[in-house]
Formats: sequence, structure tokens, C-alpha cells
Amino acid sequence: MPQQNMAALFTPITIKGLEIKNRIIMAPMALSLGFRSDRARAFYLERARGGVGAIVLPGTAVDVLASDEAWGKRGALASFLQGLSSLARDVHDAGAKLGIQLWHGFRFPAGLMGDQGELVAPSPVEKARELKAAEIGIIIGKFAAAAASAKEAGLDFVNIHGAHGYLLHRFFSPLDNRRNDKYGGSVGKRMAFALECVKAVRKAVGEEYPLFWRLSSEEGVVGGITLEQSIKLAKALKKAGVDVIDVSFGRLPRQIMPSKRQPMGTYVSQAEAIRKEVNIPVIAVGRINSPQLAAEIISQNKADFVALGRQLITDPNWVRKAQEGRYDDIVYCDSCNKNCIRFIPEIKKAPASQDLPLCNLNERAGKEWMG
Ligand SMILES: Cc1cc2nc3c(=O)[nH]c(=O)nc-3n(C[C@H](O)[C@H](O)[C@H](O)COP(=O)(O)O)c2cc1C
Repeated sequence: MPQQNMAALFTPITIKGLEIKNRIIMAPMALSLGFRSDRARAFYLERARGGVGAIVLPGTAVDVLASDEAWGKRGALASFLQGLSSLARDVHDAGAKLGIQLWHGFRFPAGLMGDQGELVAPSPVEKARELKAAEIGIIIGKFAAAAASAKEAGLDFVNIHGAHGYLLHRFFSPLDNRRNDKYGGSVGKRMAFALECVKAVRKAVGEEYPLFWRLSSEEGVVGGITLEQSIKLAKALKKAGVDVIDVSFGRLPRQIMPSKRQPMGTYVSQAEAIRKEVNIPVIAVGRINSPQLAAEIISQNKADFVALGRQLITDPNWVRKAQEGRYDDIVYCDSCNKNCIRFIPEIKKAPASQDLPLCNLNERAGKEWMG
């Protein structure tokens, strides 16, 4: 591996005044850790100390961050934000940046866990009813309020979850969106929800706050979103105020976490194709498990960041080992999809027990807080 390639992976980058010390981001992963427990803190701090440039906290229902309303009588938003602030301070002390992913699933009103309210979709399907235009406005308001809360809590950026078959994705998907109002009917109209959302978030956080958008470049389903459509979306998102495009793939339960049968760097070519067309930084993800591959992606300008998901559960010290050239000391994730993904509500492969480690190859994962 030429030295200059590896150096590229460790070259700082600045997004809207936010300096990230290297090009390695911990991908958002729902692991049932919460944010405020000793368990969560120890888990994230171990990865921050391991040298990662930025951590993206997992998809979080916008209602959680938007207002006290969703917390009901407990009125616990302020305490939640204090918890996030304190996690952000610790992660900063460990040298990494911290962002959070803003998520909306399938229900309205969604409530704290995103699983209350009625099932909704862009157009009526199975048990879901069509979301009304006025309700879209309410949800956009929640994204904006949630982003403002994240900023107030001291988080360095927000990442809006526009991927994986959740609500924003569904509005862009020709499979789900058969509306003929201003939110559906053409590629442009299918983007309207996303673009209004970005504009509202931008207004809420100001011009200088970094805004990431995660999309699925393709759905992996016949008749679904195409790469060409995603390129159009990425360009429009940039124009609306997005700073970084985070290029993922698939819709639940398909292809999001590529299995061991899929090639390493599974979705890098998709990120590269989008990067060529939008003039803003792009994140690549999907089985980027070796430092050599990560360095090649950055040095060959295929992407500006690599996001590592499961690999950082398996080895929290991946970044440090890569920087020190200790490639053989890395414990490599084998994409077995056994332990970690049981916490994704739409997959629910096994009970979300905290007694089991989060990873087959790392007994310590999720138990860091025990010392
Ligand atoms: C346990 C688990 C939970 C995940 N939760 C989220 C999530 O909350 N939001 C999201 O956008 N992606 C989520 N993902 C997808 C990852 O961010 C990442 O895109 C995917 O795992 C592929 O990267 P990898 O091969 O490096 O693991 C999750 C993945 C796993 C394994």
C-alpha cells in the first residue's frame, strides 16, 4: 500500500467550519444502547478513543427531539438533551465529532419510539393510509425542531435518514408514491417532501451548521429508485442546503447490511457515481473493512469519507491500528449478520437481550461499561 494512499485517509476535512480529523465515520447503527446509559457512553467512547473522525448516532425518531409533547407527562426533553450534551462533550474530549441521525418511520403521530399513531405511507398500501399534505407539514416541522435541538445539545451535525424504505425514502420511491398532488407524480414532485424538509432544517439550524443526508442510491427492487434518479435527488438536495451526501443502498430488509457473499466495498461505485455529479462531499459505505480498501477509496477520489458500520463493532480500534500500519492486528468483521442486526426493529432476528455481545467476534461489544 503506497504511503500517500494511507495518508489520504488521515487527511482532515472541514465541512462548514467543522474540522473532522480523518475520513472515517462510524455509520449510524441502531443497537438498543440508548444515549445516556453508562453502557452507551462506554460503547461510543471506546470507538472515539479508537480514533474515528466522527460518530453518527443511530436513527432517532424526530418526535424524541422535537418537543416535550411526545414525552407526555414526563416532559423529559431537557434531560434527554443534557444527556446528549454530556455524551458530545466526552466524545469531543476523545478527539471525535458527534452527530445524530434524524428518522421518521411509518406512523403518524410517531411518538417517542416512532411506533405509535396510525400506519401511514405516501399512498395507501396494505394497512397504511395516505399521509395528508398537512401532516407532511407537521412532520417537516418536527425534523426542523429536532435538528435545532441537536444543535442546541452541542452535536456537531445532523444526518437526515432519507434511506432504507423509511418515510422520506418512500416518498421518493416510485413503488410507494403514487400521489398526484405536489408530493408525487414526477421525479421532481417525489423529491418535494425531502427538499421542503432540508429547507426547514436549514432555516432552523442556520447556514453554518453541517447537514448530512442519507439516501439509498437504489432500492434493489424491480421498479424502485434508480441511480439516475438518486443523482437528480442529490443535486437538488445540495441546492436546497445539504452539505454531505451519505450514499447507502437498499430498503429494509434487503441489502442494507451486505452479507459475506457480497463484494467488499459493496456500494462504493454508487457513491463514486453520485460524487462525480454533485460537487459536495460524499460518504461511501458497505463492507469497507480493510484499511487498504478505505485508503484506496479516498485517495482515488471515489468518496470523501468512508463509513464503517459493523467493522467498528467488531474492532473499535480499527482506525488506530490502520494509522499505525498494524493491519494484521485488526479483528475483521465477517458480515455474518448474526448478533448485531437483531436490534433492528424491522428485522428482529433474535431477542434484543443485553446479555449477548453485539458481535460474534467481539465478546466485549456492548459490555465495555463493565470495564
Ligand atoms: C445493527 C445495525 C443497525 C443499523 N442501524 C442503522 C440506522 O439506524 N440508520 C441507518 O441509516 N443505517 C443503519 N444501519 C446500516 C449501517 O449504517 C450501514 O450502512 C450498513 O451496516 C453497511 O455498512 P457496514 O458493511 O460497514 O456494516 C444499521 C446497520 C446495522 C448492522
